[in-house]
Amino acid sequence: MGPNRTMIDMDERDDVLGTREEWEEFYGTMEERYRPEVYLEGSNMLVSEDAELRDLKPYKGDPDEFYRDHLPKKIVDRPDINGWLAVVDGRGRVRSGYTGEEEKPMLHLVSHSVSPEYLGLLRKTDIPYLIAGEERVDLEKILKKLKEKLDVDTVLTSSGGKLSGALLRRGLLDEINIRFNPVIIGGFDTPTLFASPDLEEDEWPTFLKLIDTEVKDSGHIFVRYEVEDKKS
Ligand SMILES: NC(=O)c1ccc[n+]([C@@H]2O[C@H](COP(=O)([O-])OP(=O)(O)OC[C@H]3O[C@@H](n4cnc5c(N)ncnc54)[C@H](OP(=O)(O)O)[C@@H]3O)[C@@H](O)[C@H]2O)c1
Repeated sequence: MGPNRTMIDMDERDDVLGTREEWEEFYGTMEERYRPEVYLEGSNMLVSEDAELRDLKPYKGDPDEFYRDHLPKKIVDRPDINGWLAVVDGRGRVRSGYTGEEEKPMLHLVSHSVSPEYLGLLRKTDIPYLIAGEERVDLEKILKKLKEKLDVDTVLTSSGGKLSGALLRRGLLDEINIRFNPVIIGGFDTPTLFASPDLEEDEWPTFLKLIDTEVKDSGHIFVRYEVEDKKS
């Protein structure tokens, strides 16, 4: 690493991608625009891919009951709930027991491959969960369950490229908002907005229709697109 690079403070570099205030403004606009009932994140946003996972107590008993949706009434029927903080956690890695914010409880979206010990932890800590998919969360089914079981119409995600990429490939995104920063990073390992498997020979890119743009004096551009039906 050259002398110039070591002199750059990481916090300063993070600011190049937008200060806390700028991101808060952006997310505020998104909240106002969509009024989402679910704020969706991927598990990597809460637990890094290489993190050492907390050991869980061995589970004794018949786990069959565990592999069904768990929506305890004392949480779900709370009148003060103003949305859900949901995480796609197909492998059962988010084990902090975090129950969410006062008016926005945590909701785990899990697959059948998670361990009974992990589901036991969610039950013990009163964290609701929905289950769909064998190895990973079946994103289509889980969105249907969100509607059927919790009457969710709008989901907003600001997750990383992998979850966004998976949602894109499954054709599950209706609108995409991008905040372009006037900066170029480059690099081979730099994360992308949509990290998904390469297009198959018979697959088309996702076409977007421009809804709105806002150009800031600072050089930032906010763009809002509608996702058009994929060609097939
Ligand atoms: N500063 C910011 O505002 C900001 C914003 C975005 C991202 N980031 C950074 O980006 C990183 C996280 O991004 P990421 O792309 O690594 O992770 P991610 O967005 O959390 O994506 C991984 C999630 O997608 C799920 N997933 C991926 N493919 C799937 C499929 N085919 N079917 C079902 N589920 C699927 C994974 O499920 P499993 O649970 O089963 O693995 C996991 O929950 C973090 O380091 C974060 O700091 C930062």
